[in-house]
Parts: sequence; structure tokens; C-alpha cells
Amino acid sequence: MTLPKFIVLCLSVGFLHNIFVASQAHFIVGGQNAAVGDAPYQISLQILPGSHLCGGAIISERWILTAGHCVKGYPVYLLQVATGSIFHAQPGAVYYPESIYLHCNYDTPKYHNDIALLRLNESIVFDALTQPVALPDTPFPQGTAQLLFTGWGSQSVAGSLPAQLKRVQQQHITSQVCRNLLSPYEDVQLGACHVCAYRQANIGACHGDSGGPLVYEGTLVGILNFFVPCAQGVPDVFMNIIYYRDWMRQTMSGNGKCGQVYKQQIG
Ligand SMILES: *[C@@H]1O[C@H](CO)[C@@H](O)[C@H](O)[C@H]1NC(C)=O
Repeated sequence: MTLPKFIVLCLSVGFLHNIFVASQAHFIVGGQNAAVGDAPYQISLQILPGSHLCGGAIISERWILTAGHCVKGYPVYLLQVATGSIFHAQPGAVYYPESIYLHCNYDTPKYHNDIALLRLNESIVFDALTQPVALPDTPFPQGTAQLLFTGWGSQSVAGSLPAQLKRVQQQHITSQVCRNLLSPYEDVQLGACHVCAYRQANIGACHGDSGGPLVYEGTLVGILNFFVPCAQGVPDVFMNIIYYRDWMRQTMSGNGKCGQVYKQQIG
């Protein structure tokens, strides 16, 4: 998905290097390297044989949540899910999706319902570095919540992906504030399905971060939907997990009617 001034494709949280500032200094201002064991729910969604495509989150033994645009158009047999490591190229384990459930109203209206579930063909083995993330039952504090975003997204618009997972603390902003900050960009209609997070210019999402998890006190509240590349002082926009809880429940219980299903033919 490409907006006039956006690149909306499934990309991730990166940190814009200010060319006038040493890149090292930048990490002190904004993001930092994740430590071993941070964000054990984080996955790297990869194109075989292992090139990082998007972020995502483990929500149970068999299910991964990511953004719709991350999986749209990919045959299921080309994808793999790397878990249990802060280095996307050295995963603790690799799992394979057998089905992709893309929301039936994906991108309708534009930038809405950008969400997908992947069912794995084997159960994830949980350990200290590999854990599901909790899902929300109640809304988080609106306009004040401190949110953790993690990703292997590039650290500048044209930059390469970092080997090590990055983490950044962002703040929730209300949709009114978000709308105002996004007003120079045409075509963006925020709805109840969106969550906006923002910190400051030079901190935020970039290519490779899409689909990645936004977490409030250990609970998943968002999946990265789109951003203005990269970290230009514009909020990052996420799919609101609580808004999609019913869709997720129905899809995971096998009763979902709102999903375009791509299944792998095994055998
Ligand atoms: C899951 O899929 C992968 C890749 O197709 C395959 O190698 C593996 O044997 C499958 N596991 C099971 C339990 O079917």
C-alpha cells in the first residue's frame, strides 16, 4: 500500500539516522538494542529461506498475528516464522504456516482491517525466549499509556535491516491528536480500528517493522499498520487489537466467516 507521501508496505520500526548526528548518539535519544529475552513474543516473518519481511506476535502455540499487507499475495509455502531470538538471522526455532487468514475487509476502507492470522502446522515450544503475548480485555489508558514497540525495521529510509532487534518506547496519542498530526497526508481516515503512537521526530517505525507488536504493560495493543517513512515526526499507526478480538476469536475457533483463507497443500 503506498500513499502519496507514505510507503505503507509492511515495514517496521526503525530509527531515522540524522545525518548531522552520530548514529550512536541516535540510539541514546530514541531506540535501543533489545536484550536477550526482551519481547519473547516477537517473531520475524520471513520469505524462505530466511529473509526478513515483517514483524508479528505469538499469541498462542499455533497462532501468529501480523499485518494483512505483510502476507497479502504471498503463497503460504513461501513463508516461515522465526521465533525465540533477538537476531532474526539466528532464530531459536523456525515454524511454518499451514494457513493464512486475511481479514475479509482488508484495506477497505483504505488502511483499515490490515490484519492477518497465521496458523502454524506445529505447536510452538515455549521457553524463556519464546512466549505468547497477552491479549487485552480492557482498553489501556487513552492518551497517556507508555507503549513498547519492537522490530527489525531499517534504521533509515534506505538503510539495511539491523541484525539485532530494536526497542522503542512510544506514547499513545488520541485519535484527535493523531488526526491533526496526520492532516498533511491525504487519504488517511482513522477509525476505531486504529491506535496511534508517537514519541518525537527521529524515533519511530521504518521499513521492516510492519506487522510488529505494540505492547502496553505486557499486553498486545497494536500491530503496525502504516507509517510515514521514516520517523519524520508523524505518528505511527497500528491496528487496535481490542477492536479485532472478536474477529480473532472467531477465526481461531474455526467459526470465522470474515477471512480469506490461503491454505498450504501438504503432502
Ligand atoms: C510443517 O511444514 C514444514 C514445511 O513444509 C515441514 O517441513 C514439516 O514437516 C511440517 N510439520 C508437520 C508436523 O507437518
